[in-house]
Amino acid sequence: MKSLQALVLIATLITSVAAFSQDNAQANNYLPFLTTGKKSVLADVQILKKAQIPILKTDISGQVGYALVTNIEEFKISKIAHQFGRCGNYEYLADKELSQEKVYQELQLVNTARAQQVTLYKPFNIVKSDRIEQAISELQADNIKQTVLWLSSYPTRFNKGQSPNEHIQPFIDRVKVLAQNYSHPFEITQIAHASTKQKSVKFSLTGKTQPNEIIVLGGHLDSINGWFGTGRAPGADDNASGSASLVEALRVFLAHNIQPERTVEFYWYAGEESGLLGSAEIAQTAKRENKNIKAVLQLDMTLFPGNGANTIASMSDFTAPWLRDYMSQVNKTYLNITVLDDKCGYGCSDHASWHRQGFATLFPTEATFNSVFQQIHTDKDVVSSVMSFDHALIFSKIALIFAMDLSQQSLF
Ligand code: BES
Ligand code: ZN
Repeated sequence: MKSLQALVLIATLITSVAAFSQDNAQANNYLPFLTTGKKSVLADVQILKKAQIPILKTDISGQVGYALVTNIEEFKISKIAHQFGRCGNYEYLADKELSQEKVYQELQLVNTARAQQVTLYKPFNIVKSDRIEQAISELQADNIKQTVLWLSSYPTRFNKGQSPNEHIQPFIDRVKVLAQNYSHPFEITQIAHASTKQKSVKFSLTGKTQPNEIIVLGGHLDSINGWFGTGRAPGADDNASGSASLVEALRVFLAHNIQPERTVEFYWYAGEESGLLGSAEIAQTAKRENKNIKAVLQLDMTLFPGNGANTIASMSDFTAPWLRDYMSQVNKTYLNITVLDDKCGYGCSDHASWHRQGFATLFPTEATFNSVFQQIHTDKDVVSSVMSFDHALIFSKIALIFAMDLSQQSLF
């Protein structure tokens, strides 16, 4: 009897130690050992309260809080966020405590970004263009498929993996081929970052008459598997799809040999899955250098028609009202699909990085938040019969219209 009791005790001990270390391993998001440092994050106040994490400061609206969290607490936030039907619901700021002044600045950014978008508003009408109509008819779903199949054949594109840049040069080489017959100035570059070893990719087409006015289009090229980060991460939907929809839009833009009036920049960002790392640095640099960025399009997940064919969502948080209106006009003029308004509820993708720096963003995505593909961040995020390249084609159309129309249209 005594030995049975001892056995039960040992078994209980082993299970709890195993559960504890599993939580920590997952919370550490790649490193399977405990780290003691605290990270600065911005998170939904409701969720911080539920996780019993001290809120050190809130923004003016009382919705966003600043907190210092351990890896385990970070994991806790994510768990609660999932119960609320959210994926992440926090934004990583730094690996250390921030000065009071910096916290104040970060929270101010949340509010000024929100307020700025409202004052930026200017209604205007799109006039249907035969040239754009012709260009979008040349976009091909099969090209998107080839790029998604190629990108998702890498075991992972994780920014903290063993070879975080394995796919970068081959990707650049594929894109370069598309510019072979383009006779106007362009540049393709790798962008190095301080926050991650992974590089972002930028393709820039110089504007003819207003080169200092910039239209940005982007999506993240990295992928991730769960909280641990490691393991196979094909990331077909999240986000080979958005990346590939952009490549296809760029292909037709270049094939038409158009020199835009404004500068058009395409980005494929690094380390989005580890906290919007690449886009955060790029948007901060743009702000610091006073870049006149007129509009930013984000494509993240374009392949899964979760609300049915020819239905997509347009996220209303971290985006600009005028660009959401613009999206409705694009739809009425060229697409004739159903666009559902929805929210992520937190800075769920790279558009949030631009929004935080005060730039106007638009984020159309495959479906409403709760109807997107449910197996992202797993080894099951692959090309299969539930995916639709015709769905992804809608986003190439949006991107091509965005690039062609906004780079020449009279703007404020
Ligand atoms: N593609 C997702 C974001 C997303 C989820 C968009 C659902 C639309 C609907 C993105 O790659 C992602 O996973 N984001 C993280 C947050 C980020 C700050 C690390 C998330 O949602 O947990
Ligand atoms: Zn993701």
